[in-house]
Amino acid sequence: KKPEPCSFVIFGATGDLAHRLVIPALYNLAASDLLPDRFCVVGITRKAMSNEALRDSLMNGLRQFATRPVEDATAKRLLECVTCIAADPGEPASFDRMRKKLDELEATRQTGGNRLFYLATPPDAFAPISRQLGRTGMLRQDGGAWRRLVIEKPFGTDLASAKALNAELLAITDEHQIYRIDHYLGKETVQNILVLRFANGMFEPIWNRNHIDHVQITVDEKLDVGHRGGFYDSTGALRDMVPSHLFQLLSLVAMEPPIRFDAHSVRAEKADVLAAIQAQSESEALQNSVRGQYRAGRIDNTEVGDYRSTRDVRPGSTTETYAALKLSIDNWRWAGVPFYLRTGKALGLKRTEVAIKFKQAPFAMFRCTPVETLAQNYLVIGVAPTEGIALQFNTKVPGPSIRIDGVEMKFRYKDYFQAEPSTGYETLIHDCMIGDNILFQRADSVEAGWKAVQPFLDAWKKAGADGLLPYQAGSEGPTEANALLTRDGRSWRKLG
Ligand code: BG6
Repeated sequence: KKPEPCSFVIFGATGDLAHRLVIPALYNLAASDLLPDRFCVVGITRKAMSNEALRDSLMNGLRQFATRPVEDATAKRLLECVTCIAADPGEPASFDRMRKKLDELEATRQTGGNRLFYLATPPDAFAPISRQLGRTGMLRQDGGAWRRLVIEKPFGTDLASAKALNAELLAITDEHQIYRIDHYLGKETVQNILVLRFANGMFEPIWNRNHIDHVQITVDEKLDVGHRGGFYDSTGALRDMVPSHLFQLLSLVAMEPPIRFDAHSVRAEKADVLAAIQAQSESEALQNSVRGQYRAGRIDNTEVGDYRSTRDVRPGSTTETYAALKLSIDNWRWAGVPFYLRTGKALGLKRTEVAIKFKQAPFAMFRCTPVETLAQNYLVIGVAPTEGIALQFNTKVPGPSIRIDGVEMKFRYKDYFQAEPSTGYETLIHDCMIGDNILFQRADSVEAGWKAVQPFLDAWKKAGADGLLPYQAGSEGPTEANALLTRDGRSWRKLG
């Protein structure tokens, strides 16, 4: 579907996000003829810059980060739409000037006043920019034109700041005008979770505590903290990944079926299941979590330095680069079914997956085969590096006696579908332009996510260096993370 005419206003136009993801995604949309017929891109910079200089810089970014060969004609068509306007929230008058210029530009480009403000800026700029957009009336929807505000995670750094940010935004604009992006929802495999659950008669009836023993959500990365020391050291693995990406996976796996496949119903169910995550006291949070920090090691034959020697990381930092949690969901479907989550940096394997572990069969018939030798029944939703779904089950090994072994049935996307290489932002950006906010986070689910992790944040802050476990870069993370499951008679699914 082609979006209506609009202007696409990018704050932070000279920044990394605009160059690496936003413009390459717009390019891919242009190449697939999915941009509006009447369209303009407005790059907002703090300091004035010529249109040519901004276009050159974005073109360089495109050459570097495009996910498909760049055709000159398409790139030219897109970049000709780019206009640079200077505006700095520290200088309110610049927003009045911006408004005037935007009105003039839109009159020439005949975009009908529809506007999307994309805040590709550091998070501390979200509120000041939005305030200025509100003050100058640029977010007001009059005369049938729409106005939308797109922001990227992190939405706050804890429950209090997330609430404050939501309150600021909602004082200026309506919830339905806000598009909070979590790039995990741009992933096909993540969107597919709902289809897997609700379009398949064989999975839907067993998706509950009667049949599922527990759920494991793993987002392991080989990447170390690299150049992001400044950001990461004040953030850590829990804040960076859990309330956003891991909770997106959790909510899609655990939510109740929505009554309709529309933004209101889907987002309401997602928010409900996050709100049902059991509140833990600080001492329970300590028992139900493991946190670690990487030390020097090797990943794929490359030396990785100690986290604490990373540029912009404080020397004695107690920021975790690995987090594992055990959570429970207090509702009928999931009573007694633990959800184990883990994520870390500088690990030996890159792996993003959800593993659903089914309960063991009663096993009366095969008494000569000890139960512990049976393979576990897992349904594995692979997000990265393999995109697909695998089902593990037991089979008789051919031969005269009954011997049982585990086998795997695999579906891989690439065997069935030829997808154009994408940045993962195309669907999200296109949805913002057509006004479909099903894949975006609502204020209540953002707050429910922070609420669920707040006890861990508080307990870890108090504990400081106590309980922060070192692990070698290139390993599987702190071995103590195993105890979180072994004490429940379970184990993490072996990766690799
Ligand atoms: C980002 C985090 O939101 O997600 C990064 O800030 C992390 O630290 C990244 O590396 C992971 O995304 P993906 O798509 O590679 O799993």
